Amino acid sequence: MTTDPLVIFTPSGKRGRFPVGTPVLTAARQLGVDLDSVCGGRGICSKCQITPAYGDFPKHGVQVAEDALSGWNAVEERYDSKRGLKTGRRLGCQATVQRDVVIDVPPESQVHRQVVRKAAAARTLQMDPATRLYYVEVDQPDMHEPTGDLERVARALRAQWGIEEISTEFSTLAGLQPILRKGDWRITVALHKSDNSAIPRLVAAWPGLHEAGIYGLAIDLGSTTIAAHLTDLDTGAVMASSGIMNPQIRFGEDLMSRVSYAMMNPGGATEMTRAVREALDTLTIEIAAEAGIDAGLILETVFVCNPVMHHLLLGIDPVELGQAPFALATSDAVTLSARELGLTALPGAAQIYVLPCIAGHVGADAAAVALSEQPGKSEDLVLVVDVGTNAEILLGDTTRVLACSSPTGPAFEGAQISSGQRAAPGAIEAIRIDPVTKEPRFRVIGCDLWSDQDGFWQEVAQTGITGICGSGIIEAVAELRIAGLMDPSGLIGSAAQTGTDRCEADGRTHAYLIHDGSAEGGPRITVTQGDIRAIQLAKSALYAGARLLMDERGVDRVDRVVLAGAFGAHISALHAMVLGMIPDVALDKVSSAGNAAGTGARIALCSLAARREIERMVHRITKVETAIEPRFQEHFVAANAIPHATDPFPELASQVSLPVVSFNTGSGGGEGGRRRRRRG
Ligand code: FES
Repeated sequence: MTTDPLVIFTPSGKRGRFPVGTPVLTAARQLGVDLDSVCGGRGICSKCQITPAYGDFPKHGVQVAEDALSGWNAVEERYDSKRGLKTGRRLGCQATVQRDVVIDVPPESQVHRQVVRKAAAARTLQMDPATRLYYVEVDQPDMHEPTGDLERVARALRAQWGIEEISTEFSTLAGLQPILRKGDWRITVALHKSDNSAIPRLVAAWPGLHEAGIYGLAIDLGSTTIAAHLTDLDTGAVMASSGIMNPQIRFGEDLMSRVSYAMMNPGGATEMTRAVREALDTLTIEIAAEAGIDAGLILETVFVCNPVMHHLLLGIDPVELGQAPFALATSDAVTLSARELGLTALPGAAQIYVLPCIAGHVGADAAAVALSEQPGKSEDLVLVVDVGTNAEILLGDTTRVLACSSPTGPAFEGAQISSGQRAAPGAIEAIRIDPVTKEPRFRVIGCDLWSDQDGFWQEVAQTGITGICGSGIIEAVAELRIAGLMDPSGLIGSAAQTGTDRCEADGRTHAYLIHDGSAEGGPRITVTQGDIRAIQLAKSALYAGARLLMDERGVDRVDRVVLAGAFGAHISALHAMVLGMIPDVALDKVSSAGNAAGTGARIALCSLAARREIERMVHRITKVETAIEPRFQEHFVAANAIPHATDPFPELASQVSLPVVSFNTGSGGGEGGRRRRRRG
């Protein structure tokens, strides 16, 4: 008696015996191997590519002969001559099993492929897209057996893909008939599942085999900026990233002023909703153009945002978020269509997913950071801070995760800073001040050289030196402290006190001159006393939030710190600690995660499993409400000093000596030349 050939798939290791002549795609399906197909085995989509391996495989206990699969057939021949197949590749729907065989499924052919993230700690994200394409051949209408076109599409999906039932977006139904006729009854449909057990929803259709791909937007909707990543829903690749300012700024810089605007002005919330939706339409059109794709192919969008933005996006009055007990209209994830959300640049049937919120002040952006950084899986105690207009702060390890949100204001993003600007070419992003000469040198975005290096001025001639961005202002304030030009209370000394003319009088206070471009018609870039105050308020709020979580957890130290946020990648750990933004920790224990909220959005965009994971995770996070916690105020006041009034910073002290200076005159104390130095 002959036994059927053995088929072994790698990397899954799944194996089974199949009769001679079974297509590889059929064997894969029966074994539950993750092998993609859009055309259902008709040899036209090329998604099912596999690589047979030949030779001896003692590990699997098989020998694979050259004729283990059927010969190259006419369909593969045609595909190869038109599009080209990589050497060694076969189409899984065409090659049939003849003898024992080992078959590798390359990552591009897996629906649930792993995508390596470009984060500091390279982690992978597994594709598990909510929207997938299916090619079907649909029966033509027959007068003797009257059925609707949609019903025949559903019948074809049942017969050809085993999909029992579908629902339909009305806007898709309206366009279905001409598509069927144009495609000569062969069409590709996009089906969206909000959940693996949900009935798929028909959200788009194209005549014939649709090969232009489908896309998704991962949007981090911040109070100050809106950042979007346009992502290929098949491969997970980011096609373009773009950002714009949130136009709601004109209604109030921070969240609470926007809530007040809604409270004071009838129709104010609606006005802000309209403004943000219009901006999202503009951003969608721009990013699609940048990537060179049709915005009509963007079938999914995931939003992460703070609770106030969440409500204003969804058209819900945020008034309840302005007062205790800070009740959210809903804390669960929200799924709806672009048409329901009033976004017009996306197809009406495009599906929107808004991540769940953690609490009234701790939003979907913090949930996205948790999804991206996974503090609950950390063996050591990690503090994750996502720095923006509001700081999302998470503290946790495998035993417990706590979260809060702290109102830092927009200073860390360069707003409310006299020479502040967003991170763009020409902005100072790094600065050092010589502790002896008190002279600055700096680097601007768009040029790798420092200002004291040869060629710097030629290179920046194009952009000029235009201002200071978020990371630049943090470094500038910290450097003023290290160089002894600013005292621990945040006062900038006078020229007489500091011995440098760069400390110039500015009304009743002093400012430090970084760069004077006035001779060439450019700006004079200074750090003023007002700038320092704005940074002090921001950093105190951040530190106080972190301390509150540490109190709640009963600890005085954390093991490591992850800095996230739009400019998290650019903040120097040393400068952040001199400023007292973050608790004292060894410098090599501070890492950057880039835009963690945006990454969380991208993970949720590419994976249904990740959406379920974060929906479960938010219920297990302990929320700490900064707004009503009296200790927050105490921590805030103590954190005003630079780096801190009372908390010791021993790790920082081992790295840098901060001069003991005081510029609080009256008695003229601390004038230049009388500075003592101490460690820490
Ligand atoms: S499944 Fe489409 S080409 Fe094989």
